Amino acid sequence: MEKLVIDGGLPLHGEVLVSGAKNAALPILCASLLTDGACTFRNVPRLRDVETMAALLRFMGAETDVTPPVVNVRGASVARPEAPYELVKQMRASVLVLGPLVARHGYAKVSLPGGCAIGARPIDQHLKGLEAMGATIKLDHGYVVAECKRLHGASIHLDMATVTGTENLMMAAALAKGRTQLIGAAREPEIEELARVLNKMGAKVDGAGTDVIHIEGVEVLHAVDHAIIPDRIEAGTFLLAVAATGGDVFVRDAIPEHMEPLLAKLRAAGAEVLREEGGIRVRSEGARSLKGGDIATAPHPGFPTDMQAQFMAVMTLARGTSVVTESVFENRYMHVPELSRMGADIEVHGRVAVVKGVAGLSGASVMATDLRASACLVIAGLTSTDRTEVLRVYHLDRGYESIEKKLRPLGARIERVRGGG
Ligand code: EPZ
Repeated sequence: MEKLVIDGGLPLHGEVLVSGAKNAALPILCASLLTDGACTFRNVPRLRDVETMAALLRFMGAETDVTPPVVNVRGASVARPEAPYELVKQMRASVLVLGPLVARHGYAKVSLPGGCAIGARPIDQHLKGLEAMGATIKLDHGYVVAECKRLHGASIHLDMATVTGTENLMMAAALAKGRTQLIGAAREPEIEELARVLNKMGAKVDGAGTDVIHIEGVEVLHAVDHAIIPDRIEAGTFLLAVAATGGDVFVRDAIPEHMEPLLAKLRAAGAEVLREEGGIRVRSEGARSLKGGDIATAPHPGFPTDMQAQFMAVMTLARGTSVVTESVFENRYMHVPELSRMGADIEVHGRVAVVKGVAGLSGASVMATDLRASACLVIAGLTSTDRTEVLRVYHLDRGYESIEKKLRPLGARIERVRGGG
């Protein structure tokens, strides 16, 4: 196991480049299953989750060449439209092969993802939508078996704005016969990016980014060569790190339009956030100079749940009290006990966490539990003048490309060390 050792307390200065968006890359890699053509994806981040997805595509028989930031996939040779438990349990996003496989091969056998650290995260909406399009769905020893000779269009009302549910159904509808409406669709920038890729492949998707998406099914989709949008969550994590430590950093390739809710909260807290050519600049005197602020996470364009833990790290030091409400997942406060061990003053009542700013956090050995909780602990460690060790850093590597290599040039004292619990 590896850990990150951080000797914080220093402001951050300079420029950092954002990698491609993990949560755009994962569905887009699955879109390659919809065509026999050879697809090329660029600006793909070098992440564990990308490697896991490529391994799943290879398991099914697709040809892949993974040399981030370029990934080539040819789905023509898929002979086994199945996603085994061993791979799905590593990464829930594996369920994104379900829609493309049923649409292209008329059959899919995908392990149910099971819960994860942040909640139950069922896929009932994915299955309901596929059934509406004519698939028969069977549960078989922990696997979903979905079959349909040819999916047909349908009008599908989603009970909640599920991101991967919207993506799965958009991909399935692209090759269905007739017209599909996804009502109550998720509106994340990654949904719009997937629609752009599908349309470049010859699909007819309209309305992505709004809560009603129209898809006119087509007979065939062709190969695509596409560069993936930057990762708004990684970008936001860097902005919050500078807000916490103080300093002046230019986050290159960050797209302000994808990040408005976070930018508004950073400005309200008193950080200076500037749109500049090619990215976003953030300036701050450090978390102790900031005002506490309330957030309630919500589907886009609300405050992203994937930024909640990182924002909370800053609020543990900001002046006053901040009320954090996690409305999307039922258990996304795994970072709270670890922050408390560093001296944070946080009380959790169900989905609400009340954070009272303290004068400083002490270093500690802390345990990462999920991807964004790990990022939160790195931010907390960067503010503390004594040593922090973030264990189980594999969680972090799922969604952050060598975070220590990106932080060191900004002045952070952070090393990756072998060993640790
Ligand atoms: C996506 O997960 C992201 N992952 C998550 O990012 C992100 O936190 C989440 O959307 C919310 O924005 C990818 O895009 C690969 P949901 P997803 O379906 O699609 C419930 C990260 O850190 N729900 O939008 O799995 C579900 O339980 C990860 O990068 C159902 O009840 O999330 C949850 O409470 C973590 N039934 C809520 O909806 C369903 O069929 C939102 O889930 C589907 C979802």
